[in-house]
Amino acid sequence: MGLEKRHLPVMVPEVLDALKVQPGGRYIDATAGEGGHSQAILRASEPGGQVLAIDADEEAVAVAKERLTEFGDSFLTVNANFRDLRITALRHDFAPVHGVLFDLGVSSLQLDREARGFSFRRADPLDMRFSIDQRVTAADVVNSYSQGELADLIYHLGEERAARRIATAIVRSRPIETSLELANIIEKASPRRGARIHPATRTFQAIRIAVNDELSALETALQQAASLIGYGGRMVVISYHSLEDRIVKNFFRKESSDCVCPPGTPICICDHKATLKMVTKKPVTPSEAEIGSNARSRSAKLRSAERI
Ligand SMILES: C[S@@+](CC[C@H](N)C(=O)[O-])C[C@H]1O[C@@H](n2cnc3c(N)ncnc32)[C@H](O)[C@@H]1O
Repeated sequence: MGLEKRHLPVMVPEVLDALKVQPGGRYIDATAGEGGHSQAILRASEPGGQVLAIDADEEAVAVAKERLTEFGDSFLTVNANFRDLRITALRHDFAPVHGVLFDLGVSSLQLDREARGFSFRRADPLDMRFSIDQRVTAADVVNSYSQGELADLIYHLGEERAARRIATAIVRSRPIETSLELANIIEKASPRRGARIHPATRTFQAIRIAVNDELSALETALQQAASLIGYGGRMVVISYHSLEDRIVKNFFRKESSDCVCPPGTPICICDHKATLKMVTKKPVTPSEAEIGSNARSRSAKLRSAERI
């Protein structure tokens, strides 16, 4: 692979700082991708640091493994979905850890791979699965959901105001075979608003989230991650759209407060104790310089919390 195609890890110094990476520390990279963050964590945790790198995408795991051979046994890769984070870590005797990182979404490698159908800029088959073991593909969603189901999905998971119009256009144009065909249909159905982003961006996001059941995987995984981190350890999440960020923010909020019975409640079962302390009240975002050199970083929001 040429260097120009390599995925550029986002906010690396901010991630290392938020994870409080220390020599000899053990970290889980729950979204290994091409291993950019893993590599930075391994370097910063020398001597003796270890990373368990997980990715649902078999190809990504293979790339990360090959790229980081220099770290030997300190770098362990596993092809798994992070919805199984806890069992994966326990199986590899990798708990408790000093930190867990999630860098959500897709990598440049996935966007560049023609067979994957994540990009709306080429005529690729409509796939969008992170793992080939998953049953549902983007083609299934696009060609078999009812018009109402599609409109709801595009509205809720893409936060797309033109969802109904787009859903109608999709249903009228079936069968749709390629990502470019789909993008053109969406573009024609979208109102011209001089948008900053391509008119298909939100609909592609919605379909990808649905295909990979991303939001429920994230909710489950955050809970599991908290249970794997030792006291004083950190959880760091980089999200790229508001649906993900809301889940992270609400999870950190809930886990960082004790349950208090509302005054005057006659019977209240309230035994939840805070497990996390929020480190970032507001999300950390990339510098102007980083956005200038890596456009993909522009929507990144980093939140972190400490296990207490
Ligand atoms: C933005 S990329 C990560 C890039 C990586 N931090 C790097 O520096 O190269 C996101 C990765 O998360 C993976 N991913 C997304 N959802 C996942 C899930 N539920 N379980 C495991 N991996 C997932 C994707 O396959 C993708 O490789």
